Amino acid sequence: MDPATDFGIIVRSPGPPEALEWSELQTAAPGPGEVRLVQRAIGVNFIDTYYRKGLYSWPSSPLIPGGEAAGVVEAVGEGSAFRVGDRVAYTMPIGAYRTRRVVPADRLVKLPQTIAFDVAAALMLKGLTTQFLLNSCYEVKSSDIVLVHAAAGGVGVLMGQWLKSLGATSIGTVGSADKRAVAEANGFSHVIDYRAEDFPARVNEITGGRGCDVVYDSVANDTWRGSLKCLRRRGLFVCFGQSSGPIADFKMSDLAAGGSLYATRPTLFDYIKTGEELQHRAAELFAKIASGAVRANIGQRLSLRDAAQAHRDLEARRTTGATILLP
Ligand SMILES: NC(=O)c1ccc[n+]([C@@H]2O[C@H](COP(=O)([O-])OP(=O)(O)OC[C@H]3O[C@@H](n4cnc5c(N)ncnc54)[C@H](OP(=O)(O)O)[C@@H]3O)[C@@H](O)[C@H]2O)c1
Repeated sequence: MDPATDFGIIVRSPGPPEALEWSELQTAAPGPGEVRLVQRAIGVNFIDTYYRKGLYSWPSSPLIPGGEAAGVVEAVGEGSAFRVGDRVAYTMPIGAYRTRRVVPADRLVKLPQTIAFDVAAALMLKGLTTQFLLNSCYEVKSSDIVLVHAAAGGVGVLMGQWLKSLGATSIGTVGSADKRAVAEANGFSHVIDYRAEDFPARVNEITGGRGCDVVYDSVANDTWRGSLKCLRRRGLFVCFGQSSGPIADFKMSDLAAGGSLYATRPTLFDYIKTGEELQHRAAELFAKIASGAVRANIGQRLSLRDAAQAHRDLEARRTTGATILLP
């Protein structure tokens, strides 16, 4: 099979959203163990902004950002279990902002017929993150009280629904009154506007002084000190992102001062390292979707050409739920 002409978004050097440039690309024929996809929907994630800005280092230049997408197999390399026409989806740290793509077959999952391409592109990175955070990083029980920051965001809305399905008490923080309504509609038991209220004091009130078993903090710089105050003795601080910037001055002694706390900084790609682990987590995610307990919440749809606008909106806290780019 010949290479195919393709379009996508490249970044020549780290910079603001304007660095995202629409460009013509060539997509190679798939090699052994690879398949080539025509992409139908691409998810936008905060990690895309970290790569664009150079906060995460680039394996090569120029960079094609993008961590999740869904589409149809159009060509198959030797030794791949997929067939032309299969509906598939994947999550990988970079490379998804393009119309066609060659992907290693062991990074793909087959989509159930009931899952649309845009739904899959809203779920692969954010939904698998929710799955590993709530089931593996810490195994949430119905007796747990759990705090989640940015509760109306892409990951946040999935966390609220999934926590409800586990029967846990969930507290979500949001940055506006509109987002409060979104978090409530997505299953959170309690919602705090952390721009208007003192969130550790409110958590203390809500939990009657008990504190939370686990805090999922993806905001980091602006919230981490308050997050530690929200934990019960020997509770777990899960810092899984840095939407307000990286934590600068954390010390191990902060964990002792908070009551012998635990802390971890997990990343999805360490929880789906093998093909088996990826398939197992995806099967659990799709079962949750099929049960109706969790649904994708797509707040914004833009053309792939408008990726810069998608980044501006995400970084300015104007989005709720997932943002999808359509090739
Ligand atoms: N470790 C992993 O494997 C993994 C995987 C997926 C995602 N993540 C992390 O999870 C987080 C959520 O990702 P997402 O794609 O779903 O994004 P998102 O939550 O939809 O967007 C980020 C949200 O963070 C809040 N925020 C607080 N301070 C902010 C600031 N200074 N600038 C921008 N936003 C701020 C905003 O909500 P409010 O206005 O309500 O405050 C904003 O909407 C990100 O930090 C991401 O890196 C980590």
